[in-house]
Amino acid sequence: MTRSRTFAGFRGGRGLVYNGAGSMGHETATGRTDELVRRLDEAVDTDCVHGRCDKVKAILEDVFRSGEPFLAPEFLEPDPERYARRLVHRDPAGRYSVVAMVWGKGQGTAIHDHAGQWCVECVYSGTISVTSYDLVSGDEEAGVVQFRQEKTVLAGVGEAGALIPPFEYHTIANALDGPTVTVHVYGEELTWCHVFQPVEGGYERVRRELSYTP
Ligand SMILES: [Fe+2]
Repeated sequence: MTRSRTFAGFRGGRGLVYNGAGSMGHETATGRTDELVRRLDEAVDTDCVHGRCDKVKAILEDVFRSGEPFLAPEFLEPDPERYARRLVHRDPAGRYSVVAMVWGKGQGTAIHDHAGQWCVECVYSGTISVTSYDLVSGDEEAGVVQFRQEKTVLAGVGEAGALIPPFEYHTIANALDGPTVTVHVYGEELTWCHVFQPVEGGYERVRRELSYTP
């Protein structure tokens, strides 16, 4: 496998950026969300999944780099127990969903997939560290698998990456002491995924049901 399509949009080494998204007003943020949804509605009508992800990625980068309010304050609250995950928009036609995640100090994920869905992830505020993995051996249906760790990149505000299966194994971690906020657009609503837990000789795949933070 090559890594060319995994988080292809993230550029490493941009440094730490924080845009103070927590001060954004609700009314303005709601208007920006509506605008984003209108643009995403058009983008997801693209037949080719690569073209679709390119368009979604360009929209997220454009909106977030503007520095204008997008997420209402209720989406920006960290959860001390684990990273917060909140549904921003569910396309009535089932073509995509938009989820905001808030990463507190030290919070991150295990190695995971996205249940075979395409996904575009973009940093709204702060900085995340994304590490890609290549599944090099083993049978994930039957037992233990082995991963090779690929590159790790830091992504700051307005930097986005696309995950298109089968290039989908990765971890995400907050790179800051303060909160980082990311926005994820999935091919449909992501209600479960696989996480990979370290065991002797590799990693064991476990199905995990996903829920939203209140
Ligand atoms: Fe992910």
